[in-house]
Amino acid sequence: HRSSVVVFVGSLRKGSFNAAIARALPDLAPEGMTVTLLDGLGSLPHYDADLQAEGFPDTVLRLAEAVKAADGVAFVTPEYNYSVPGVLKNGIDWLSRVSPQPFAGKPVVIQSASAGVLGGVRAQYHLRQTLVFLDALPMNKPEVMVGAAGTKISGTGELTDQPTRDFIRGQLSNFAAFIDRVRV
Ligand code: FNR
Repeated sequence: HRSSVVVFVGSLRKGSFNAAIARALPDLAPEGMTVTLLDGLGSLPHYDADLQAEGFPDTVLRLAEAVKAADGVAFVTPEYNYSVPGVLKNGIDWLSRVSPQPFAGKPVVIQSASAGVLGGVRAQYHLRQTLVFLDALPMNKPEVMVGAAGTKISGTGELTDQPTRDFIRGQLSNFAAFIDRVRV
């Protein structure tokens, strides 16, 4: 079956390990799965209900449409202070106010990377908690955490580590099957 997946990255920096992983996803996706990276989280203002009352920022509407149209969503994010980076949480908060709420019923897959050994695992569990309220459908396993990311991503920002590439390839295959299973 064909499926389309959109990707949110939780880091804004040019040399981001997580962005490098996100850029590798189209290549690692199984036959029939298209992967599109989303941008714009960094340009959003802090969520403010008064701003919302004046009308959603165009970027929020664009991202909400992209999520709505997709069969699945991937989050690739670092862990900041044991949690989800503010820029990603802020984006999720904005999108969650759009009606119909775009993440409801949406299959979700998560990857995280960090220089440390745990690979951002604690951010994943905070993100999963947020996904409960959003009524999203995060796939439980396999979980992908990329520790020691500096040794697995080249200076030019390519995910070069073969075991990590195989690990993610396997996760995305499982995600394709998961999407088919929960598709209504
Ligand atoms: C970090 N980093 C970090 N790493 C970790 O494993 N656990 C943590 O709680 C934190 N906390 C944290 C807070 C803040 C504010 C920063 C800037 C960084 C390190 C972080 O994982 C590392 O910088 C990654 O390289 C960030 O991901 P990108 O930008 O490479 O995708």
